[in-house]
Amino acid sequence: RARGIILVGGGSKGTRFRPLSFDLPKPLVPLAGKPMITHHLEGLARVPNLLDVLLLGFYDESLFAEFIESASARLQMTVRYVREGAALGTAGGLLRYREAVEAGSPDVLFILHCDIASSFPLCDMLAFHQRRGRSLTVLGKRITGDTRAYGCIVKDERTDELLHYAEKPETAVSALINCGVYVASTRGFYALLEAADQERARGLAAQRLWVASAEGERGRVQIEQDIIMTYEGRQQIYVYECDDFWCQVKSPEAALRASAMYLQHYASTQPELLAPHSHGMEARAVRNMRADGLNYGRDSVNVSHAAPTFVGNVYVHPTARVAATAKLGPNVSVAAGCVVGDGARLVNCMALEDSRIGEHALVRNAVVGWGSTVGEWARVEGDDLTAEAGGRISILGANVECAGEIVVRNCTVLPHKALTVSALNQIIL
Ligand code: GDD
Ligand code: GTP
Repeated sequence: RARGIILVGGGSKGTRFRPLSFDLPKPLVPLAGKPMITHHLEGLARVPNLLDVLLLGFYDESLFAEFIESASARLQMTVRYVREGAALGTAGGLLRYREAVEAGSPDVLFILHCDIASSFPLCDMLAFHQRRGRSLTVLGKRITGDTRAYGCIVKDERTDELLHYAEKPETAVSALINCGVYVASTRGFYALLEAADQERARGLAAQRLWVASAEGERGRVQIEQDIIMTYEGRQQIYVYECDDFWCQVKSPEAALRASAMYLQHYASTQPELLAPHSHGMEARAVRNMRADGLNYGRDSVNVSHAAPTFVGNVYVHPTARVAATAKLGPNVSVAAGCVVGDGARLVNCMALEDSRIGEHALVRNAVVGWGSTVGEWARVEGDDLTAEAGGRISILGANVECAGEIVVRNCTVLPHKALTVSALNQIIL
């Protein structure tokens, strides 16, 4: 039997996600039309004999109540929130709330970071863990470019044993990184965790640190430093290397990138979620869009063949209304309750719930926050991050009103602002 645990972190985290994380905890920010951790839950739902999933974090539990209710009903799984009194680190909560984690005696634990996008190859990881692994299996991926923002792994190429590990090293150690997805044997994992914790306590006592920082420091335990680095090369930790898509999701820019990956993933796993291409077959979604009696622009009622033009991968929530003369894609997600007007053009962007894109407006490389409005003929644009690294997208926080005919370029706009003039390269407070 297995239990899933998602480390959701808490309010002091997710600052890079502002202004979107002002209105919603980062783990619930949508990627490709679904809250970030719904993708985790869908991955866990494929695991056989899953008892339930615990969301472990230090956010107020009320912030997750609605999400938990709808996600558990839709996915037919039990999801519970376990609240840490304070930030206990990536393993501290597992130790402190051990009773909740071990209830029902799961043999294996799937421990997932929340701020990643992945195909979650959990069943393959489990098979690997049962064959090769001992206490802990770490999902690893080889990436190109700078690896210093990640945990770097050196493994035995023959046995897959984790031989050496450096957490965010100053000089790159290897191209193989820790993806923040673990499979643990409950008993073995807790044996390592307890030993590591005692070791830490002894270390802190020796330095008299526990006097100064008392409970806080004592409770903080990290999977990376305290378990992986302590037990590297001792035949306890193995690396499941996988080449599937994966990325970290620490910022709105990364959320756009992650959305593109998930939309591409839908093409093979849940194609019914993607808007049908205009050249493709008449798919169900278009028929539904016409049949549900909603108005998708002036022409859509009379011209029966009219449907929006979709380019590449596009997600449109069934309750969103998109005018027949609008053009969307690639990498566009339009959430529930959105309205996209006639002649609007959306490229590489997310329109979050209940936002409105006016007629002939252009939204490119941008996120339009909950309940925000982009006026007619306005442009909300950012840099194309696939073309240039280090660029910046435009982000409208919740309930921003963008007047018609203005240009907003490379701006971050905080919630509830009304923009009446054009803006370039600004943070609008
Ligand atoms: N419950 C709880 N309590 N969760 C926490 C806490 C805590 O005190 N601290 C962090 N988390 C959660 C975060 O929400 C996130 O899901 C995950 O643990 C890791 O967050 P960070 O501690 O910010 O680390 P990171 O994301 O910069 O780096 C980690 O993940 C990388 C992969 O994304 C490391 O494990 C790296 O080695 C790894 O490459
Ligand atoms: P392709 O990329 O090859 O399709 O060229 P394109 O010129 O059609 O560009 P794009 O796909 O980006 O634009 C598709 C439609 O959006 C065209 O009808 C454009 O006229 C229109 N479009 C381009 N820029 C804007 C704009 O700023 N505002 C509005 N409302 N429409 C635009």
